[in-house]
Amino acid sequence: MDKILEGERFTANSLSELRSEAEHCKRCDLYKNATQTVFGEGSRDAETVLVGEQPGDKEDLAGHPFVGPAGIVLDKALVEAGIERDSCYVTNTVKHFKFEPRGKRRLHSKPNAGEIRICSWWLRGELELIKPKIVVALGATAANCLVGNAVRITKDRRRIFHPDGLPPVLVTIHPSYILRIRDRDKADIETREFVRDLAEIRRFLSIH
Ligand code: URA
Repeated sequence: MDKILEGERFTANSLSELRSEAEHCKRCDLYKNATQTVFGEGSRDAETVLVGEQPGDKEDLAGHPFVGPAGIVLDKALVEAGIERDSCYVTNTVKHFKFEPRGKRRLHSKPNAGEIRICSWWLRGELELIKPKIVVALGATAANCLVGNAVRITKDRRRIFHPDGLPPVLVTIHPSYILRIRDRDKADIETREFVRDLAEIRRFLSIH
């Protein structure tokens, strides 16, 4: 699993131990401006791990992943795909919110390659402890981190990759993509496609 991380191996024996360690993470500078570490959440026995990019404004304040607008899109699509969010473990590639201050607002800023590589240490720990049957990469940051930089969301969505040392990885869009679509019809089409992507989880689990 070296692709997603370098550095010493984690020593935590449980997710709660790993989470406690992550609370004090200073591996990169993102902790300086973020409110808190937003660690993954969900069942330790989850067969499915959903991986986003990084916490957004709402998640940073609440301390929970995918509880803001993108989380609402994700939750609705999961319901439509017949998947219970509670049966999954939900996490992010990067555990601190990176943003640019704009007056009173905090605008999302993409994590860079170094931040992603350093932070993937935690994701690796989560995956090694949970040992899910399938990991879902929500968007390019997660897909590139888990599968490699050759992955392209438009070309590869709904594909399941088998990266060395990792569980199979299903690639799909990031739910915030749907929020950015202005045209209502196009947003509906993309939502249906997203639901189709997520339904692959059930298909995969039914045969593995
Ligand atoms: N976007 C993400 O990638 N993760 C979150 O937790 C929220 C928004």
